[in-house]
Amino acid sequence: MRWLRDGFGRVHTYLRISLTDKCNLRCRYCMPEAGVPNPTPNAALLTPSELGGLARYLVQERGVRKLRLTGGEPLLRHDLLEVLRALRSVTGREQRAASGLHAFGLTTNAVHLERYLPALVASGLDAVNISLDTLRADRFTALTRRDGQAHLPRVLRAVDAAVDAGLRVRVNCVVMRGRNDDELETFCEYFAQAPARGLSEMVDAVRFIEYMPFEGNEWHQGKMVSYAEMRQRLQPRLLRDTAEPDRHDTTKYWRYRTRDGTEVPLRVGFITSMSEHFCAGCNRLRITANGHLRPCLFGRHEVDLRPFVQRDDWEACGAAIDAALLRKAFALGGASSALNDLPQRMAHDRPMTAIGG
Ligand code: GTP
Ligand code: 5AD
Ligand code: SF4
Repeated sequence: MRWLRDGFGRVHTYLRISLTDKCNLRCRYCMPEAGVPNPTPNAALLTPSELGGLARYLVQERGVRKLRLTGGEPLLRHDLLEVLRALRSVTGREQRAASGLHAFGLTTNAVHLERYLPALVASGLDAVNISLDTLRADRFTALTRRDGQAHLPRVLRAVDAAVDAGLRVRVNCVVMRGRNDDELETFCEYFAQAPARGLSEMVDAVRFIEYMPFEGNEWHQGKMVSYAEMRQRLQPRLLRDTAEPDRHDTTKYWRYRTRDGTEVPLRVGFITSMSEHFCAGCNRLRITANGHLRPCLFGRHEVDLRPFVQRDDWEACGAAIDAALLRKAFALGGASSALNDLPQRMAHDRPMTAIGG
């Protein structure tokens, strides 16, 4: 196998494909109020067959084992069903043995998830990560700048429906001081009470994410709540997870004990990009909605793969990816510190919604 190796010997087996940079919400930590500055027009998106070709090349010939669809909001993609059909030769359950893919996931705000669940499951989806930052409708409105009364119940229904559909579900919560940092325990208790809502399973994990700086996202250090502080807040509820950690994981996992003292099959995770980065184990590559390869979330260096993909020129496409990987910095896109240098650099890059997380 011609593995996707960078200059530090890290092999890249996890591909995140952004399907669109548009979103139906306006989360403050993700994008400016006016939306993305120059949203990719539909005509400049990689087409379903181009996405299929690229995924096939990277999975079958370059050793990608895990694929995740991101956005913006991926379920807003106008031709989503065609995209899912085009990816099926790598993501479909019957095709996995031949394609070599192990995992197929989606990260979504879940507002439109219920409607698409059957198509997603049919395309081979294993797992869904749902972004949800508060359980209070008034705060949902303040955080997303969209109607929380209408949206929050839909998201909560979609979480339960996704669990019911047999998907492995994780809830992603970006923690911001003064906005939702008093809800950590409430979150865990709500998702631990799945049986009371008639569900046979719980979500796999609730994950609390350190607030990261991106263009136009109002980041400043005082608003960020660190891993150490979050752990302290949840301290009596967290139990050590004895499972061997996966060195490629973005997340540090713990087990959860509810307020009434019951140990439940819910994990609590922390994504510590700012206080304790996990770059040494990085195995992630990104394709932006406009067809650029972005080897690092925080790295400004991108390569436009569209010309190669449109010509089906996989040799040249592979060479461009290999060259970009050799330029990938070891950590934080080359920033010298997460709290000082990184915010300055990211202020002049793309908003998160245009990168895909
Ligand atoms: P799993 O595969 O379920 O572990 O999900 P994931 O953490 O890989 O992906 P998800 O889209 O759910 O992202 C969760 C959070 O992790 C988001 O805030 C992402 O921006 C962040 N994240 C994902 N990949 C990276 C990465 O390579 N570097 C950094 N710093 N953050 C990342
Ligand atoms: N900091 C941390 N996580 C973020 N996300 C979006 N913006 C930020 C940020 N500034 C998360 C979303 C979603 C994932 C793809 O990235 O909540 O779950
Ligand atoms: Fe990988 Fe860059 Fe994320 Fe670090 S910041 S884990 S190097 S993508």
